[in-house]
Amino acid sequence: MVCLGNICRSPLAEGILKSKLPSEDFTVDSAGTASYHIGSAPDRRSIAVAKKHGLNISKLKGRQFVASDFDRFDYIYVMDASNNQNVLDLARNDDDRSKVKFILNEVYPNENFDVPDPYYGGDDGFQNVYNILEEACTKIANDLNKH
Ligand code: 4NP
Repeated sequence: MVCLGNICRSPLAEGILKSKLPSEDFTVDSAGTASYHIGSAPDRRSIAVAKKHGLNISKLKGRQFVASDFDRFDYIYVMDASNNQNVLDLARNDDDRSKVKFILNEVYPNENFDVPDPYYGGDDGFQNVYNILEEACTKIANDLNKH
């Protein structure tokens, strides 16, 4: 799960997807394309909306996406078009590029919709992002659990 800062959207996506997959079979992680928040906990508003839905993401630590993530993961879900471009800029070959997907294409195929960045808005932006990510992660988990 990749966003810009790795403090708002992608830690929420990580927490939601982790809660839907057996941890012995799947590794779920998140990262930001920027370096601003390396080592930081998620934004308190993401922690709060996760907690409201029974998820504890408060112990997650921000990190930056690196090219070796293409070796560690089968699917790389980006939140928006700028994340998509930044991740693709680090891809080394077509195999890397084929792993990168807009997370909302799981729900709205081929639309390349953005998960809105809630950082500069109010608390309702975080609830909205939670709802969007919950729907997308349900679809991802259902598909993965079928394999
Ligand atoms: P995120 O949100 O990409 O969903 O984690 C942001 C967090 C921090 C900043 C921008 C977006 N920032 O500019 O510091």
